[in-house]
Amino acid sequence: MKNSQLVGGGIAMFAGAVFAQGSYDATVCDEQRFGNFTDPRVYLPNAWNDEKDEDGFICMSVDNSTPAFDVTWNWSTDIEDVHSFPYVRLNDDNLPTRLSGLHEIKLKVDWTMNYGTPSPPVRSFRQSSWDDSREELEEHNVQSNAAWDFFLDGNRTRTYNPVDADIEVMVWLGRVGDPYWLGRADNKHIGNVTLGDYDFGIYYDLNFRDRHVFSAIAESTTGILNFDEDLKPLFDYILENPEDIEDFPEDPWLGIVEFGSETWRSGGNVTFTAANFNMDLDADGHTPGDDEGSSGGGTSNGDDDSAAAVTALSAFGFAAPVAIMMGAVFA
Ligand SMILES: *[C@@H]1O[C@H](CO)[C@@H](O)[C@H](O)[C@H]1NC(C)=O
Ligand SMILES: *[C@@H]1O[C@H](CO)[C@@H](O)[C@H](O)[C@H]1NC(C)=O
Ligand SMILES: *[C@@H]1O[C@H](CO)[C@@H](O)[C@H](O)[C@H]1NC(C)=O
Ligand SMILES: *[C@@H]1O[C@H](CO)[C@@H](O)[C@H](O)[C@H]1NC(C)=O
Ligand SMILES: *[C@@H]1O[C@H](CO)[C@@H](O)[C@H](O)[C@H]1NC(C)=O
Repeated sequence: MKNSQLVGGGIAMFAGAVFAQGSYDATVCDEQRFGNFTDPRVYLPNAWNDEKDEDGFICMSVDNSTPAFDVTWNWSTDIEDVHSFPYVRLNDDNLPTRLSGLHEIKLKVDWTMNYGTPSPPVRSFRQSSWDDSREELEEHNVQSNAAWDFFLDGNRTRTYNPVDADIEVMVWLGRVGDPYWLGRADNKHIGNVTLGDYDFGIYYDLNFRDRHVFSAIAESTTGILNFDEDLKPLFDYILENPEDIEDFPEDPWLGIVEFGSETWRSGGNVTFTAANFNMDLDADGHTPGDDEGSSGGGTSNGDDDSAAAVTALSAFGFAAPVAIMMGAVFA
């Protein structure tokens, strides 16, 4: 049984468009998850704001051998905020790592978004079909994005806690329905970065918890459906942070790496699909004794062992990314 599922996943990967619906490992909804936080990949529908739309739902079907997920949601209540951030989290033994010890962080993903519930699920990620899909989604009042999300802190333990982490970095690869990003309203466009072939504007602002939030927004509004780039230039920018940012850790730890979709609202089912995600990380990681110093406030040294980190993960796995919470205040 399990073997045939794995074979199904493999075929889907090579044939591109062929995928048998029975090949999923599991379907998880709302606040469930697939996988443990220490696994190489853990999947969460992450409906952290679902009580504000009792008739809405989000369910994620996981194919962990391709790997891929298809997540279908319908939030018809427009709360001018995000309802959920379904994501896959990618782990690596060398996370957390200090930004100064980061040599390469190559991140890969193919994604798309479609109106309705395509059957069989989409496994081709053609840029050319995206314009049509996006138009159809916008006709149905859909507001959503596709983004990498990262959490950093001067204290190694706190990188595992999306609510407490001092710094959030988002990289938006695409968007539908003109969603808000932090800093957009004030036009806090503080820089630009090029990742491979793609240009991004970097926006910065503090959120309502006084956390630093950087949003790298793809210049092209057409969306980057096949992404496979080293993000080191962006993290170098943050390491050499602009001098006028106060209370900024000198050499923060990067802890959490996620890819998913912020979901604001829809007029019907929306299916977000991501596949072939991967992280190639070349980083120094953590060596005992290098936790001292190196923070803006002078107090936030990492000091935990991995067991403590895992506890923190379990407690905060469903917490909203801090940038998302901002939407409620500024939207
Ligand atoms: C997660 O960990 C628990 C306890 O260690 C184990 O029983 C379970 O099988 C694991 N789940 C997955 C999906 O690996
Ligand atoms: C919407 O999604 C739900 C859950 O996947 C499914 O049961 C329902 O048939 C879908 N409706 C349409 C019109 O696709
Ligand atoms: C970013 O690049 C654009 C051109 O693409 C330029 O107009 C703008 O001044 C740059 N902004 C910053 C802050 O460097
Ligand atoms: C989406 O949710 C709304 C409100 O609950 C409902 O009227 C509509 O039928 C749903 N659409 C689908 C495709 O399930
Ligand atoms: C680092 O963060 C953890 C978790 O919040 C906390 O228990 C610890 O005291 C912090 N360490 C320092 C040196 O601030």
